[in-house]
Amino acid sequence: MLITGSNGFLGQKLIDLLSKNLNYEVFAISMNKNDNPNVANYHFQQLDLMNSDLLNTYLSEVKPNYIIHTAAITSVEGCEADKVLSEKMNVEVAKQLADYCKQTNGFLVQLSTDFVFDGQNGPYKEDDSTNPLSEYGKSKLRSEQVIHNSGCEYAILRTILVYGINANPNRSNLVLWAKEKLSKNEPIKVVKDQWRMQRLLMI
Ligand SMILES: NC(=O)c1ccc[n+]([C@@H]2O[C@H](COP(=O)([O-])OP(=O)(O)OC[C@H]3O[C@@H](n4cnc5c(N)ncnc54)[C@H](OP(=O)(O)O)[C@@H]3O)[C@@H](O)[C@H]2O)c1
Repeated sequence: MLITGSNGFLGQKLIDLLSKNLNYEVFAISMNKNDNPNVANYHFQQLDLMNSDLLNTYLSEVKPNYIIHTAAITSVEGCEADKVLSEKMNVEVAKQLADYCKQTNGFLVQLSTDFVFDGQNGPYKEDDSTNPLSEYGKSKLRSEQVIHNSGCEYAILRTILVYGINANPNRSNLVLWAKEKLSKNEPIKVVKDQWRMQRLLMI
């Protein structure tokens, strides 16, 4: 099983969980050096997924049967600022992984987002019409489409608000940011007209 984005919030939790499951041999890719060196029983590779030749070589050596693709440019502002990079990372990498799964009868799990919707008529069902407003949401929707069109076996999870404690203290998220501000008695400024759905999953 291959986990992409293993240094990320979700990736780290998946590594923690799956490396304890002896039914799987777990492989992990991230862009930067390994943030989870103390977790045993998995093989880490630092690799830029946008380098399609390197990714191809890696896939043909490791031959994963399952891929959980969490890696992405997850910054909404980052995608808006560089649409070419957003397309390359969020769409083309997903397509390469989907094509690999199609050729090898592998199974791809893609992490997508509630940002594929415009928020006008939530809460949404999975077959509701999409209408992403941001480049991030658009790129994630295109990733869903290329995976569907590839003909591979897949599952797409449109998750919402991933947060938690990350091994890298420099990585923050909404909850850690609020905790830090409040623990310093600093006021926080947040919107009060946005509603997000959340199912709490402790892993
Ligand atoms: N966070 C949320 O609230 C949220 C909400 C909805 C959906 N999602 C989706 O859920 C998934 C996981 O989110 P997350 O919060 O865990 O993301 P995250 O913490 O931002 O982690 C993303 C990971 O992708 C890796 N990555 C980025 N570009 C790469 C590249 N070119 N090559 C290799 N690795 C690369 C990063 O590697 P390094 O750390 O090594 O640089 C990082 O570990 C994403 O697909 C995201 O779109 C997230």
